[in-house]
Amino acid sequence: MKNYIIHDEWKIIEEGFRQEENRVTESLLSIGNGRSGQRANFEEKYSGDTLRGSYVAGVYYPDKTRVGWWKNGYPEYFAKILNAANWIGIDVCVDGEELDLNRCEVLSFYRDIDMKSGLLTRQFVARLSSGKQIEVRAKRFLSIADQEIGAISYSVKALNFSGELSLTPYIDGNVMNEDSNYDEVFWIGVSQKVAGSSGFVCMETKKTAFQVCTGMNFAVSVDNRPVAPEFTVVEEEKYVGSAFKVWLKAGEEICLEKYAAIVSTLYYPANKLQDATEKALKRAAAKGFDKLFADQEKAWEKRWETSDIRIDGDVAAQQGIRFNIFQLNQTYLGDDERLNIGPKGFTGEKYGGVTYWDTEAYCLPFTLGTAPQMVSKNLLLYRYKHLSKAIENAKKLGFTDGAALYPMVTINGEECHNEWEITFEEIHRNGAMAYAIYNYINYTGDREYLAPYGFEVLLALSRFWSQRINWSDVKKKFVLLGVTGPNEYENNVNNNFHTSYMAVWTLKYTLEAIDYLKKEHPLLFEDLVKKLKLKELKETSRWKKIIKDMYFPYDFTRKIYLQQDGFLDKELIPASELKPEDRPINQKWSWDRILRSPYIKQADTLQSIYWFEDEFDRESIERHFDFYEPLTVHESSLSSCIHAILAASIGRQEKAYEMYLRTARLDLDDYNNDTCDGLHITSMGGTWMAFVQGFGGMRVKNNQLHFNPFIPEGWNSYSFRLNFREAHLEFKMDKSAFSVFNHSKANIDLVVRGKQFHLPAKKELIIK
Ligand code: BGC
Repeated sequence: MKNYIIHDEWKIIEEGFRQEENRVTESLLSIGNGRSGQRANFEEKYSGDTLRGSYVAGVYYPDKTRVGWWKNGYPEYFAKILNAANWIGIDVCVDGEELDLNRCEVLSFYRDIDMKSGLLTRQFVARLSSGKQIEVRAKRFLSIADQEIGAISYSVKALNFSGELSLTPYIDGNVMNEDSNYDEVFWIGVSQKVAGSSGFVCMETKKTAFQVCTGMNFAVSVDNRPVAPEFTVVEEEKYVGSAFKVWLKAGEEICLEKYAAIVSTLYYPANKLQDATEKALKRAAAKGFDKLFADQEKAWEKRWETSDIRIDGDVAAQQGIRFNIFQLNQTYLGDDERLNIGPKGFTGEKYGGVTYWDTEAYCLPFTLGTAPQMVSKNLLLYRYKHLSKAIENAKKLGFTDGAALYPMVTINGEECHNEWEITFEEIHRNGAMAYAIYNYINYTGDREYLAPYGFEVLLALSRFWSQRINWSDVKKKFVLLGVTGPNEYENNVNNNFHTSYMAVWTLKYTLEAIDYLKKEHPLLFEDLVKKLKLKELKETSRWKKIIKDMYFPYDFTRKIYLQQDGFLDKELIPASELKPEDRPINQKWSWDRILRSPYIKQADTLQSIYWFEDEFDRESIERHFDFYEPLTVHESSLSSCIHAILAASIGRQEKAYEMYLRTARLDLDDYNNDTCDGLHITSMGGTWMAFVQGFGGMRVKNNQLHFNPFIPEGWNSYSFRLNFREAHLEFKMDKSAFSVFNHSKANIDLVVRGKQFHLPAKKELIIK
């Protein structure tokens, strides 16, 4: 755990030059605009430890799989989100001496990101070996108002000398992924050009043939007076730069405004890329840094208007929640159903792929609550469009008749994960796909999503469960063997409660969907029966048998469901007794030791209890929480949010707050010592859930919003907003009252602490 980030309500601040934490800060201060993202690398050369990263949405490379023992069914490749051309680069020389913060004395250093506007700022004073001192002020952002544009303002002041300053802004496509399996370069140069102060590099990915064109142009001024220096163009393979020199008197400052355009064949045909790049650069130059930034501020203001959460009285908690919302909004704007939310977003390479069950389980509630309905629908359609690939995937593993297994990790629908105990066995992800359909319909009321989309997916999932589950003659029950639950610290177990619960629930929900379609859309249902070759009686009668006779491991003494068969054979020593030097255990212990231990990586049995809370009474939730929480090490970012919500629902307010802070500040305080790899973007959706469903106690039941709010001790008040169907509501909780302001034109009925209320349009409801 670290705590060097300065607490502030809107900014993430690093003070002082912390080289040893550079990768962590680079992740934390990443910028993004849904189409591309950039770690907080320095513009000028830096020979110290850094993970250079620029990423472009939807552009990937199928890196050849690397495994010890090849198992049939493994995918051939692991999709990597590519490190793309460096668009921020500016080389700086002072009288021939290169600026490199690793090789000079850093007299002062400050950087921050302002979450209000997505502006990254850095300021430092450096003394070069010659004794010359310069002050650098750099600002940059990726525009969410014009998603093809990035802008940098980079100023250098000569502090104690007069001399020649040479700057070389450049675009460099000679980049590698640190996690490349065979040290391969993934990009091939297609075209490039540089003239005067502008240039571009167009590159194509090997195998996948995506093209990305990255262009730049720039303007120079000295002490706010535009200057027109002479440019010397520098061209190498996949590299264009434009060098120039200016003479600065002591106290004078040069400012370079560099604009970048990043466009890909996801949005333009290959032969139009160059043109699109040039147009974007023209747009940027015509506006200039300040106007582009004014547009950026306006666009962010709009985003914050519907998604901000305010806390009065706890700066650490306020910074935490805003950081999570900010990063989610930088990663996914929901305007393109081909895109999704990767566990690291645009902030690092780890995890490759892009799409995990994380999206359905942890991010969908955030988009449902804060974005237009279409954004959530797009997330669902992403999976609908991948259905045929999920069916192929299941076929590879021996399943038939339209059974689907969604991939553990994917970017285009194909599986690209290859550890057998996860790829083949962590099949609870199929349950998350079904739950997302339910969750979307439950929240939005859009039952029409079932036909034509949702039902097709549900049927394929039910077919999978029906084939994956078998009858045990010994138990006289149906069983689910050889699985890995969400707790990846147990592999290849039998009868994982969560997985079996999701399987049975999916069968029930699919039966409900059939009933609904038959009743409400009989003709459509007929078409679906034909299209999907549904043998209704035969298929559903097996489902019904499974529902009736499924086996769930249960301990009658403790009155709890067991995470899996044999769980009680473990030495149940609480995680609080682990030595601090043994944590996180996944970095300190052998895998063998972890597997035999009772320690749980993330909510597992508690995950299904959270999802199906109404099927358990309060005492039962308490018993399960009290048994599993002390054994949970929360070494997955997806863990604390679920614990926060359950703790809140059983009245453990302090625990809920502790878990909330852990999820909200997971990256800011580097709880799991891995922020250096990138941020935990998908768990940030979980943080939002922990707030709204935990502190706010928000649930949707029978087409109505329900709340059971409380305020953590020490807070004066908090507020959040929700889109719910036609309504847009603002909730405020302080020490004396819970109030709801209806900003929309629609009247709404809602339930607070079990009592029904009617709230007309534009009115406020205050409940003491
Ligand atoms: C978690 C998975 C999750 C993945 C990506 C793993 O550490 O155990 O549940 O899908 O990270 O976030």
